[in-house]
Amino acid sequence: MLRFLWESISFQMLLVFLLVFLLVADYMKHRKPKHFPPSPFSLPFLGHMHLLNFSNPQTSVQKLTEKYGEIFSLQIGSSLFVFVNGLRLVKEVLVNQGENFIDRPEIPLDKEIFSSMGLVSSNGHLWKQQRRFTLTTLRNLGLGKRSLEERIREECRYLVDEFGNQQGNPFNPHFKINNAISNIICSIVFGNRFDYHDEDFQKLLQLLDNTVQLHGTIMSQLYNCFPSIIKFLPGPHKTLLKTWRLLKSSVKEKIDKHKEDWNPSERRDYIDSYLQEIAKDNGSGSFQEENLVACTLDLLFAGTETTSTTIRWALLYMATYPEIQARVQAEIDAVIGQARQPALEDRSNMPYTNAVIHEVQRKGNIIPFNAPRSTVKDTVLDGFHIPKGTALLTNLTSVMFDKNEWETPDSFNPGHFLKDGQFWKREAFIPFSLGKRACLGEVLARSELFLFFTALLQKFTFQAPPDTTLSLQFNLGITIAPRPYKICAVPR
Ligand code: HEM
Ligand SMILES: *[C@@H]1O[C@H](CO)[C@@H](O)[C@H](O)[C@H]1NC(C)=O
Ligand SMILES: *[C@@H]1O[C@H](CO)[C@@H](O)[C@H](O)[C@H]1NC(C)=O
Repeated sequence: MLRFLWESISFQMLLVFLLVFLLVADYMKHRKPKHFPPSPFSLPFLGHMHLLNFSNPQTSVQKLTEKYGEIFSLQIGSSLFVFVNGLRLVKEVLVNQGENFIDRPEIPLDKEIFSSMGLVSSNGHLWKQQRRFTLTTLRNLGLGKRSLEERIREECRYLVDEFGNQQGNPFNPHFKINNAISNIICSIVFGNRFDYHDEDFQKLLQLLDNTVQLHGTIMSQLYNCFPSIIKFLPGPHKTLLKTWRLLKSSVKEKIDKHKEDWNPSERRDYIDSYLQEIAKDNGSGSFQEENLVACTLDLLFAGTETTSTTIRWALLYMATYPEIQARVQAEIDAVIGQARQPALEDRSNMPYTNAVIHEVQRKGNIIPFNAPRSTVKDTVLDGFHIPKGTALLTNLTSVMFDKNEWETPDSFNPGHFLKDGQFWKREAFIPFSLGKRACLGEVLARSELFLFFTALLQKFTFQAPPDTTLSLQFNLGITIAPRPYKICAVPR
């Protein structure tokens, strides 16, 4: 009897059973909580993946905001994300209810790489301690003081020399800018800058840049959606993990070098200060060498790509809008002249230049969805129930391109930041995010942007190479970056 039954169940039947079982399991797993933000119809297993256009994520969900308004949810692979739009709600998440949304969600690739250590992807007590220590140390090493400004100005001179060596011929400024910007972080963390032709330095930068490229690959994105499957496949995500291992061991070498010639009474740099912190509690607390490696790489990573991308956008916009470039140069000539190097204290006398830098950051919009956050506990947001541990993305584009906040949101218009000839601070300008977990390097980044931008425009006029038009189209990676371009830095 049993045998008969068994034989009558065809292979097809078995497949149908299996499929129904998987669908039910999938449904149970992804069942949404009550009063959760609305979401469109989703496919089994894939969720809303089909709605996302990897090459242009900014516009692909346009229709959703039209239909659902300021808050909705999307299932992307195995993770559910709440999307939040508009200044009112974004501020609610980052500031008013900031404490409830202060965590980072677990991103499979990040977890694999950093095991939830460091600054960017850590949480709770560990994050709080690392962040407080890093902010204090940056301040002690001269953030907001003269000594760090001196280091940046020194680096500006090297970069101006490098650009000058091109003698006005077309060149791709990407790596020269990366060299200069990462040197600032290097001098804070390792205690010294590197010559642009130093082999070890070039290797380090090449690895960092590779990780930027690799994080942007579809396989890496897929890894984050379906880690348990993709883990076993070959592809760029494997190269990415290998690259991070190389980066870690290269930082580890630098730490060992510091330990060799360590003098407890002297704090030369971030690593020295951290080693002292490890010694203080005998390495029993959250200050541990593995965490120092993670923090160092976080600073290098978060501090280089972002600032360098912004400067690349700035040069591109200047070459695209020569009349705006000419006004910046006129202001530089009037306030600073050609004889001395720009300094931070010039900024308050240069409203137009300051407005242009802000407009580059607004229009450049290099981190359109901010860094992801996650709820620390069950939370109510705009009447919706968001359970503990829900991942959430704040849409910075919806704030920095809001028609109700900006006069001409889609144009490059420094006038957005000017009123009666004075600099005008705008509430909807939030490229560094807001609240207690906002960008840790904002003061440093703003100093670098002002000093590098003015130093370069004091000495050069940026132009498209002969017979070419520059494109303002972007590439998507970790940041929204300009497509690789060549430009002429014509000496003034
Ligand atoms: C134009 C340059 C920069 C931009 C646009 C930028 C933007 C951001 C944004 C949007 C976040 C996420 C904040 C959040 O979750 O609310 C962030 C985090 C962070 N940034 Fe920046 N950043 C820049 C430069 C820098 C620099 C120079 C450093 C180096 C000191 C840095 C270090 C960090 C760190 C460590 C975090 C993680 C903070 C945390 O999770 O507590 N950033 N940045
Ligand atoms: C983000 O905001 C922009 C501008 O308002 C909008 O076009 C886009 O659809 C939004 N994306 C999401 C996922 O909310
Ligand atoms: C660290 O270890 C030393 C010697 O092993 C001990 O004297 C000291 O009390 C310890 N400090 C802490 C904070 O545990």
